[in-house]
Amino acid sequence: MKDLTPKKSDLDPIEIASRDEISALQLERLKKTLRAAYDNVPMYKQRFDDAGVHPDDLTDLKDLAKFPFTYKNDLRDNYPFGLFAVPREQIVRLHASSGTTGKPTVVGYTANDISNWADLIARSLRASGVKPGNIVHNAYGYGLFTGGLGAHYGIERLGATAVPVSGGQTERQVNLIQDFQPNAIMVTPSYMLNILEQFHKAGLDPRESSLDVGVFGAEPWTNAMRQEVEEAFDMHAVDIYGLSEIMGPGVANECVETKDGLHIWEDHFYPEIINPETGEVCADGEMGELVFTTLTKEGLPMIRYRTRDLTRLLPGSARSMRRMEKITGRSDDMIILRGVNVFPTQIEEQLMATGGLAPHFQIELYKSGRMDAMRVFVEAEKGATDNLSKTAAARMLTKRVKDIVGVSCEVVVGEPGEVARSEGKAKRVVDNRNQ
Ligand code: DLL
Repeated sequence: MKDLTPKKSDLDPIEIASRDEISALQLERLKKTLRAAYDNVPMYKQRFDDAGVHPDDLTDLKDLAKFPFTYKNDLRDNYPFGLFAVPREQIVRLHASSGTTGKPTVVGYTANDISNWADLIARSLRASGVKPGNIVHNAYGYGLFTGGLGAHYGIERLGATAVPVSGGQTERQVNLIQDFQPNAIMVTPSYMLNILEQFHKAGLDPRESSLDVGVFGAEPWTNAMRQEVEEAFDMHAVDIYGLSEIMGPGVANECVETKDGLHIWEDHFYPEIINPETGEVCADGEMGELVFTTLTKEGLPMIRYRTRDLTRLLPGSARSMRRMEKITGRSDDMIILRGVNVFPTQIEEQLMATGGLAPHFQIELYKSGRMDAMRVFVEAEKGATDNLSKTAAARMLTKRVKDIVGVSCEVVVGEPGEVARSEGKAKRVVDNRNQ
């Protein structure tokens, strides 16, 4: 793999500023954000008044803990534009998440918000090792989803060439990679596995492809998956994180030279980790729910937004800004099986460590009598599809999940191609317990 470490002189000065400088900037921006939210968004005024807090009560970053949380439901309750802090005419773009139940959540951006977003994607790409002049194949979905367009404007802002492919049509994706010779690809890690498969189907060696780096996010993925993809394509795989309510992709990104967790772009987003049950703020290093307050968003300021993503905060390394560990999972995706908490990422780790299996999986929850039970659908690797190999792989994975994750499950090993494929975010858990 190529050394893609960016030059220090190419970084934004704030990325390597002192902690004191970063905190001072955060405090100044936080005060402004609280004030704008209170003055312009009726929900925030009401919430702050009810909690007996006022923007002037914040004189230190720690004071933020006194302010109330904001939840996904608040966006739904104020559908579509009720949380915007500027007149609708100043909103230059909308995005929305489809959501599985009820109304979608709608987010809006002013021209400044869009510009900051492009800057932060450009910063994220630079951290990933992408350079001005590179070609970037963007397979995040274009449309209401923030992935495609969010990434797109950042690629251009960096001075790279954007290939706006969007998701789907996997054969065409591979043809375009062969023809345009991109240096980098932006795509969900699960869809990258489909692209990998298509390389093999087309008789192409992925290690010979032009790709030097993949910038993967929008869903949880493990370091074991990183190794698999890096090995298969002979390229770097780095993690990009974000959520539409806070901005979209580019809230945090790994550095290609360290790959030790994602630096949160703390000049624009203030992170906290809280205990999801009590709401108490946890010390850095402790696991809990990630909560964000935006520091520069004009259109849709978010105060202490509960992401439901579980991780912990770590000190800066390649940059001064704090890191978040790779996301373990969303609290919504946590499976509680006979008292044991299980995340799909834990199953992914064990799958990757088991020989004879392809890296695709889906988990089914069902009722066995009155008890909840879990079935893991995987598929045999090409060349290991005979019954003996399949049975051995199923036994091995069952044992690893039992010994290491701590739960019993049934493993079903199908033929290559049998597990549902994703063209964007993978659906890891199918819940059939109420059927
Ligand atoms: O998924 C934004 C995005 C697009 C991020 C492209 C990265 C790349 P939403 O659709 O609002 O936005 O979903 C946000 O996806 O709260 C996490 O649960 C999950 N997620 C996003 N990035 C990661 C990641 C986009 N790198 C939700 N690792 C978040 C784990 C992630 N989970």
